[in-house]
Amino acid sequence: MDLSNGYEQHFDQFVDHRENHPSQIGYRTVLDWAQKLPKNSIGLDLGCGTGKPITKALMDAGLKVFAIDASAKMVDRFRQNFPQIPIREESVLDSTFFDQTFDTIVAWGLIFLLGEEEQKTLLELVSNKLNPKGTFLFTSPMQKVKWRDSVTGLESISMGREGYVDLCKNLGLILDSEYVDEGENHYYSFKKISSSKA
Ligand SMILES: C[S@@+](CC[C@H](N)C(=O)[O-])C[C@H]1O[C@@H](n2cnc3c(N)ncnc32)[C@H](O)[C@@H]1O
Repeated sequence: MDLSNGYEQHFDQFVDHRENHPSQIGYRTVLDWAQKLPKNSIGLDLGCGTGKPITKALMDAGLKVFAIDASAKMVDRFRQNFPQIPIREESVLDSTFFDQTFDTIVAWGLIFLLGEEEQKTLLELVSNKLNPKGTFLFTSPMQKVKWRDSVTGLESISMGREGYVDLCKNLGLILDSEYVDEGENHYYSFKKISSSKA
């Protein structure tokens, strides 16, 4: 069973485009965002891919970073790129998140690869693993929409801004800020204000 939602199979195609893209899409946005976090924050990159450029942006901002990805090939490449960063090869849905909590969790290009129920599960897991005032930054379109992933051809689903705000409210997470990067990816930054009600 492929836990990576098609990315193990399409590793070469994805990495060629992602690592070699001249503008390193998302790097600047994540770096600017992460530089505003308190010093020595501990971060987790979910669905980290090869770590370039998003895990790198977190490192460059001074965070101590952990990472998770379900694709063995992504994890191998990540270990070559960043041998010093702890990474686990597993689905974010089955993970214990290194048996610890985090100041910030990031998921770039991940949440919309999951089904609706899986997205709810992930949001709950993330909320439970965030420290008070912790932040969750993730990308997904503003609109409630379904489309075919350009790399894998599999269905992607965005719950849309209202959907994410509603779900997160019940988990003690409020929308703090939003961004759009050079690749027109929409970012939601949620802050943990209280314990989960779920
Ligand atoms: C669009 S790529 C983004 C990779 C990386 N965040 C980046 O910025 O380049 C999606 C990544 O999520 C991983 N992935 C997909 N479903 C996953 C799951 N359930 N658990 C962990 N990783 C998953 C894939 O293996 C792939 O590396």
